[in-house]
Amino acid sequence: MPTQLRPFARRLRNRIVSHDLSRLSRSVRKEGLTYLSPAKLLRIEKALQSVSDIEGDFAEFGVALGGSAILIASQCQARQIPSQFHGLDVFGMIPEPTSEKDDPKSKSRYEAIKSGASCGIDGQQYYGYRDDLLADVKHSFSRHGLIVGENGIFLYKGLFENSWPTVKVDRLAFAHVDCDWYEPVAYCLEAIAAKLSPGGVIVIDDFHDYGGCRTAVEEFLSQNPAYAFEDGANPILRLKA
Ligand SMILES: C[S@@+](CC[C@H](N)C(=O)[O-])C[C@H]1O[C@@H](n2cnc3c(N)ncnc32)[C@H](O)[C@@H]1O
Repeated sequence: MPTQLRPFARRLRNRIVSHDLSRLSRSVRKEGLTYLSPAKLLRIEKALQSVSDIEGDFAEFGVALGGSAILIASQCQARQIPSQFHGLDVFGMIPEPTSEKDDPKSKSRYEAIKSGASCGIDGQQYYGYRDDLLADVKHSFSRHGLIVGENGIFLYKGLFENSWPTVKVDRLAFAHVDCDWYEPVAYCLEAIAAKLSPGGVIVIDDFHDYGGCRTAVEEFLSQNPAYAFEDGANPILRLKA
């Protein structure tokens, strides 16, 4: 497709997919709370439906402004099976991609963020430059009827490797891994796999966007043959029941 037609084609595809999205997904996009495309949000919605009878909590690694987290937490709260939502993030500047397995695209994206030149969604301030991102995210949750710290909805500030060991969780049914680079994705996959129920799913956001994420997932799959790989905008790893 000619380069000048790509933004038009993307907008058209987004409009078509948006038709099938829940009102909540449409709302978090409209409010500029998520970087996820309608196609990715729709796949998350379907993945969430597919674990309706699977025991365990829901988690998101990489909350940023909270858009996808609000969708996942609200589905968690609406479940028949009692479960909790755990959202983890530094709620500040994204950590550097430190692995040799990260691609040049990841490194130049990080350099742009670090330089202060990154622009946010729809011309807003980039979320990583905000004074108190966690407070802003809690506020966005409450606008959607979700009170952080109550009714099984929790947010944890810090590096995953520091915060995840403090999270009280026996089993997971659903996890969204949206943290871009090799090291955090590799860490999260191992952490989730230790708790995932049979039939549970892991949705990977950046597989087709950043090489380090892709490598981490491919390494994980080669060592964990019990997972089925369902490709798409944001691939799903499903633990065979
Ligand atoms: C792409 S954003 C998440 C987008 C969000 N899910 C949405 O709906 O738009 C990735 C987030 O992961 C966080 N992150 C990346 N590596 C991390 C780490 N090692 N520990 C904690 N947070 C991390 C970043 O700070 C950033 O907020």
